Amino acid sequence: MKSIYRIVLLAVFTFSFTGGYPQQDPETEKKIETLVSQMTLAEKVGQMNQLNGGRPAGYVAEAVRNGQVGSILNGTDVKTINELQRIAVEESRLKIPLVFARDVIHGYKTIFPIPLGQAASWNPAIAEKGAQVAAQEASSAGIRWTFAPMIDVTREPRWGRIAESCGEDTYLTSVMEVAMIKGFQGDNLSAPTSIAACAKHFAGYGAAEAGKDYNTTWIPEQLLREVYLPPFKAATDAGAATFMCAFNDLNGVPASANEFLIRDILRDEWKYDGMMVSDWGSVKEMVMHGFCADEKEAAERAAKAGVDMDMDDQVYFHHLEQLVKEGTVDEKLLDEAVRNILRLKFRLGLFENPYADEKTANDFYRESSLEAAKQAAIEGTILLDNKNSVLPLQNTITSVAVVGPLSHAPADQIGTWCFDGEPAHSVTPAMAIQKEYGSKIKVLTEAGLTYSRDKNKEGIEKAVAVGKQADVILFFAGEEAILSGEARCRADIGFPGAQTEMLEALKQTGKPVVMIVMCGRPMTIGKEIEMADATLLAFHGGTMAGPALADILIGKAVPSGKLPVTMPRMAGQIPIYYNHKSTGRPASDITLIDDIEIGAEQTSIGFTSYHLDAGDSPLYPFGYGLSYTTFEYSSIRLDKNELTKDSPIMASVTVKNTGNYKAAEVVQLYIRDLVSGSVTRPVKELKGFRKITLEPGESEEVSFEITEEMLRFWNTRNEWISEPGDFHLFIGSSSADVKQAHFVLK
Ligand code: BGC
Repeated sequence: MKSIYRIVLLAVFTFSFTGGYPQQDPETEKKIETLVSQMTLAEKVGQMNQLNGGRPAGYVAEAVRNGQVGSILNGTDVKTINELQRIAVEESRLKIPLVFARDVIHGYKTIFPIPLGQAASWNPAIAEKGAQVAAQEASSAGIRWTFAPMIDVTREPRWGRIAESCGEDTYLTSVMEVAMIKGFQGDNLSAPTSIAACAKHFAGYGAAEAGKDYNTTWIPEQLLREVYLPPFKAATDAGAATFMCAFNDLNGVPASANEFLIRDILRDEWKYDGMMVSDWGSVKEMVMHGFCADEKEAAERAAKAGVDMDMDDQVYFHHLEQLVKEGTVDEKLLDEAVRNILRLKFRLGLFENPYADEKTANDFYRESSLEAAKQAAIEGTILLDNKNSVLPLQNTITSVAVVGPLSHAPADQIGTWCFDGEPAHSVTPAMAIQKEYGSKIKVLTEAGLTYSRDKNKEGIEKAVAVGKQADVILFFAGEEAILSGEARCRADIGFPGAQTEMLEALKQTGKPVVMIVMCGRPMTIGKEIEMADATLLAFHGGTMAGPALADILIGKAVPSGKLPVTMPRMAGQIPIYYNHKSTGRPASDITLIDDIEIGAEQTSIGFTSYHLDAGDSPLYPFGYGLSYTTFEYSSIRLDKNELTKDSPIMASVTVKNTGNYKAAEVVQLYIRDLVSGSVTRPVKELKGFRKITLEPGESEEVSFEITEEMLRFWNTRNEWISEPGDFHLFIGSSSADVKQAHFVLK
């Protein structure tokens, strides 16, 4: 075995996201101690209780008055929020303000693309702006705490919540979520337009077996440390004010009572002093998990593990006081939880400024917010295929047919987790194309299928009739919003309904068909992409999806999105992700099922690692995305070939726009540790990226600093280490299209 650098300072491993984390303020800590010392046991339990605002108003008000509530989720009317706050700060004994929470996931009223779509922009500024607009709108409605960002890395497109994630990569997720946290919380959490972020779901939720929501997760510590936890560490470094624990059990222990996660890692190792809330019902669900005998034991286990606030299931409220009185739970644990809760309220400035300003309330849909949402939808759209450069549409066309179930689906285009989004404000592709181009060309509209699961053959015929009259057919297909998101998991991730039949019928018109896919996950649509002349993957693009797509189709905007997740050919390939390990027999000489000779012998087609029906490659790799222009990458230049701990390598490429459009490109950096004596390493890992914009003919040098820290991994002795030896470094336009160089870590 080679000698290794043992990194004793575990806490040193970060993604180099610095700053952000609020230091404890001694004055505030004193105030917290004073309050804690004045609180009765019942009042402490009250602070740890989060109530759903949807419960009967009289009950909620009384509970607030009695100091039995610390937070309310899902109150959305400013007047009601302020009235409850008034009761808390005027009528409750200790006058502790409430904190009002809501799932504001990718917009409050002005809806941005689903998080997966934002991640496809590979532009943190897009994510930051989206969160900032969400915070401004939500805070104007009295909400000061959102349950976002969801930073669960996931390799599971069957899992409906992939829509809410930033995809399969740890580094990309970390960069995007840090931007979101910054957007929500601003520079100062106590500013009235800032809202507290919540890093969720801690931890491992994205690894749900079979991509089925709430399912068991088994994640060895090495994988947990390298893939699933780093975004959470980045969240603590970025100052995320709160954390939420996950529904799943992790290696046999539910996340809601997981002392290893919450105490050992989050509190002791990472020194996190923010607040931890349970997920909705996750504490009492430990009974269903078969982990606790009853709700009382569930309350005990969660409190002991360090869950500070119980989201609506009221098991703390019903049992904690008793548990303390009988000596099962130490009151000191409650003091610790209450400190974390009060610290959040102080950081939000709620003691000084508890109310939402009713004069400036409900400030939604600013022009600048709509513009930002449109830009996010543009940058989050990925050009997957463009046969014969069908796109952008030529200005010689005189008519288009706008068809398909997503062409005018105002509710579906805003996607999952939009409690407050208003479909009436959505600008659909049909509306936008009509408005923008209706005076210049003939715009014919006919959805054909009225929703994605529709199987109506007559509808298809109507759309075909319209298609025949047009120069180009624009087919808006995909999934309805209800087919992705929480508990919306699918075993078949192809097009539902008769969309494929519709595409076949449209193709038979002989007209060019451009397919625009609006969905909540990567879909297995290889056959459909083959049939279409061009395909754009737009995800659920939000309020302004229509204008964004209209601009892209006509070439006013150039697609620059890249896949934040691998697109499989078939669901049977899942899990399929770019940063996999190498087997001892990587795929070679692939013989697919129909090429096997009848009666072939056992040894005739070799013994390597692939599927007989899918081969070894995905439909599209992570990081992939085309443009209307072309980019040429030079070979990689290294300033030296040997890296030491104190002397990083600079790696550079020159990227040239060799086409005819001004366009943006995401330059991606990957690294491979060729030989590791401790644990096998992935074939590639994303370590950096830059999004640059180039005029036709223009070149730019893009450089990355390669440090020893980037090469660290978690070994079997539970240490972060880097191993001297040979490395490959790749720079390119996707995880599969790269230039390669070699260096040595000394
Ligand atoms: C989800 C959380 C969400 C919570 C509150 C749960 O079902 O898992 O992500 O924040 O509900 O709405």
